[in-house]
Amino acid sequence: MHVEQDLTTTLITEEQIQRRLADLAVDIAEDYDGLDLLLVGVLKGAVMVMADLSRALDRHLEMDWMAVSSYGSGTTSSGVVRILKDLDTDISGRHVLIAEDIIDTGLTLSWLVANLESRGPASVNICALLRKPDAQRMSVDVKYVGFEIPNEFVVGYGLDYDGRYRNLRSIATLSPHVYG
Ligand code: IMP
Repeated sequence: MHVEQDLTTTLITEEQIQRRLADLAVDIAEDYDGLDLLLVGVLKGAVMVMADLSRALDRHLEMDWMAVSSYGSGTTSSGVVRILKDLDTDISGRHVLIAEDIIDTGLTLSWLVANLESRGPASVNICALLRKPDAQRMSVDVKYVGFEIPNEFVVGYGLDYDGRYRNLRSIATLSPHVYG
């Protein structure tokens, strides 16, 4: 069965994603000029954002990864955040930029920022490719946002439904027949 048959609409194309990330990289390069930069990716959703954003940045940087869980296999946020894999790096005195795929409720990121802040970094900022409207409620300060999207469940470019669809190059909505 083809992946295409599971999708309804392409919300954001591969070209749009790459162009937006290139723009964000210009802003980031300017803001972090002269500062050391540590990109922190949140597994697994942020792998594509991390890969493309980091390569759009023509400067020295380091990358590290965390894995947290906030979702089960469904499509609604549980609000429970757990560290599955912590950073390998000591971030005290470092400028940390979290690379994220999406902010939905913002629960995951607000928790993550507080957690990282407690380790004494020089700064912690967020770059998220997508933001849903509900994110307003948590007042998470996201410095770099790729696209504002409607409150729909989306897949692709790192985002999954039940572990699948992360390898799509674009961001798309899922056909109801997939939800079962
Ligand atoms: P939040 O805590 O509600 O902001 O959820 C953040 C996490 O939920 C993201 O990092 C994603 O892994 C997942 N998530 C939220 N919305 C979607 C979606 O539309 N598609 C796929 N995953 C999503």
